[in-house]
Amino acid sequence: MSKATKTVFGRTFLSVACFALIVVVMAIGSMWFNTAQAQESGDAAAPESPPPEGQEYLGTKRCAPCHFEHFMSWKKDKHAKTFELLTKKYEKDEKCLECHSTGYGEATGFKDIKSTPTLAGTTCESCHGPGSIHEEVCKPFAKVKKLTPEQEKIARDSIWLLLPGTICISCHTQKAHQKTETPKELQTKK
Ligand code: HEC
Ligand code: HEC
Ligand code: HEC
Ligand code: HEC
Repeated sequence: MSKATKTVFGRTFLSVACFALIVVVMAIGSMWFNTAQAQESGDAAAPESPPPEGQEYLGTKRCAPCHFEHFMSWKKDKHAKTFELLTKKYEKDEKCLECHSTGYGEATGFKDIKSTPTLAGTTCESCHGPGSIHEEVCKPFAKVKKLTPEQEKIARDSIWLLLPGTICISCHTQKAHQKTETPKELQTKK
């Protein structure tokens, strides 16, 4: 193996290993979380009940008033800037928008930066799913200081804590990005 091949191999292995670690940590985290939830509700195997269907995408600005801390920490996260990575040249490229915007291709999802600026990038609703009904049912709670357990259940049951399946992997799979390839001129990781 040449030195260059070794370095490339080493880096690829390292990033795959790092990602595998994140996935494992997440899996354990969610197992722990589900167990804690199940114990709380006294139900042995309590998978999260699916939120109502047919919700529309709202964009980050609509989540912010009720989840200000999450909004502020997301703002600092790289996920908030994944649309900017595309640069002007690729900002209308459907091959890229699937992962670098929110809900692209769905009726109320991202269309373009002018008409749907708060759905650009990997926003709240990329990971939690669309939240219009969640917003609707939570509105009466906005002024409540401490929610009753029933109110909290209504609020939590109306949106995913995390979209089911492999939501992180759907964007992060090495294969998927290789399929489209980060254009050479936009690569920062050599
Ligand atoms: C009117 C207020 C309000 C708005 C707007 C709102 N939420 Fe919530 N949300 C709540 C309340 C209340 C809860 C219950 C838990 C808590 O107190 O944080 C909650 C819980 C959640 C949870 C936890 C779900 C669970 O299963 O534990 C997520 C995720 C969430 N919201 C995401 C969002 C997203 C994404 C948006 C924007 C599309 C949004 N929320 C808009 C009030 C709101
Ligand atoms: C399947 C989901 C997916 C698609 C499709 C996709 N990306 Fe990405 N992109 C990602 C993920 C995940 C990352 C961050 C992890 C990484 O660097 O591999 C990323 C990172 C990037 C980066 C930063 C890379 C660097 O070297 O700093 C750029 C630039 C980028 N993508 C541009 C594009 C462009 C342009 C397209 C369309 C031609 C595209 N992406 C399509 C998921 C995707
Ligand atoms: C890259 C994915 C991702 C994005 C983007 C994201 N979140 Fe989350 N969010 C998570 C994960 C992961 C958790 C923790 C889930 C768990 O505990 O298993 C979480 C948890 C939450 C919770 C529940 C906290 C609790 O007390 O139970 C709320 C509320 C929330 N996020 C709101 C938001 C809002 C609002 C935004 C946008 C401003 C946002 N999230 C953006 C992945 C994301
Ligand atoms: C809609 C697509 C999408 C989803 C869903 C998604 N990501 Fe990402 N993620 C990206 C892109 C694109 C980047 C590249 C940001 C950059 O390089 O600036 C990224 C970056 C990251 C990074 C690197 C951040 C840093 O500071 O270096 C981590 C870690 C990460 N994602 C973890 C996760 C986890 C965990 C989940 C699930 C809870 C998740 N992602 C869900 C698209 C996504």
